Amino acid sequence: MTDKIRINRLSEAMGVEIFGIDLNTLDDATFGLINEAYLEHQMLCIRNQKLDPQSLVDFSERFGEVLPHDNLKFTLDEHPKILVLSNDVDQNGNQIGVIDAGDAWHTDHQFKKTPANCTILYSLKNPSQGGATDFTNMYTAYDALSEKMKARIARLRGHHSISKLKNKRVEISGSREDAIAFYKRQEREIPDVEHPLVRVHPVTGRKSLYCSPRFTIAIKGDGLSKEHAETLLDELIAHSLKKPFRYRHTWEDRDVVMWDNRCVNHRATGGYVYPDIRHLYRTTVEGEAPVAA
Ligand code: SIN
Repeated sequence: MTDKIRINRLSEAMGVEIFGIDLNTLDDATFGLINEAYLEHQMLCIRNQKLDPQSLVDFSERFGEVLPHDNLKFTLDEHPKILVLSNDVDQNGNQIGVIDAGDAWHTDHQFKKTPANCTILYSLKNPSQGGATDFTNMYTAYDALSEKMKARIARLRGHHSISKLKNKRVEISGSREDAIAFYKRQEREIPDVEHPLVRVHPVTGRKSLYCSPRFTIAIKGDGLSKEHAETLLDELIAHSLKKPFRYRHTWEDRDVVMWDNRCVNHRATGGYVYPDIRHLYRTTVEGEAPVAA
């Protein structure tokens, strides 16, 4: 099967698109090629896929344990490991998916003890405008820091929280009903965590910067004052969002896009309005506890 496969770079920053694969009939050699491309390019887009929900779960399980979602309201009834991201409504006018998923820069499950490995999105319908997803490469963001900054942050830790209520760097979306109660409940259920600010990828061994405006609410370390930590966090976030590290993905219907949360931050960019529909399925694969350099 691998002789029909074509791989093109999507940008200088990261990412490749792959043609000539049918994920319904994935053999081990083709999976090996996808996995290699995933580790080398951090973000993949496999074009022209016609997948049913089970095939998406089967493909995701090749990478590890597919996690159940916290938000059961918008998972598929028959496939609770698939979360629906959508601005569509049912016949009664009720929302059928999460509308505001990922609207601030983040990496998935950074607020957990074991954050995610990859996230996989399957695009069923795209709006006529907007709906792109932005990515930034946290390996190259780290590599581009000065040696002085690398030494300064080497032993620091990021403090991460799921709660938007604790985070002055993000806004609460107006489209989320009961936002205060929702985030209060999450605060109670998911305790904050600390992870190394510079993490080492468990497979490639490369170092990346591990912070995001959505989940990182503080930086901690011996002798670091709160005030300096705040300035440092702002500086690192601004650095991570510089143009050379970034790629914007404009979706085509039937794209399967996956990214490595251990070295990539992302955000949904919005910019579309109902009845212009954006509709995707999402799975998330369990990762491992981040390890410091
Ligand atoms: C996400 O962050 O999970 C969703 C990204 C997107 O919808 O573009």
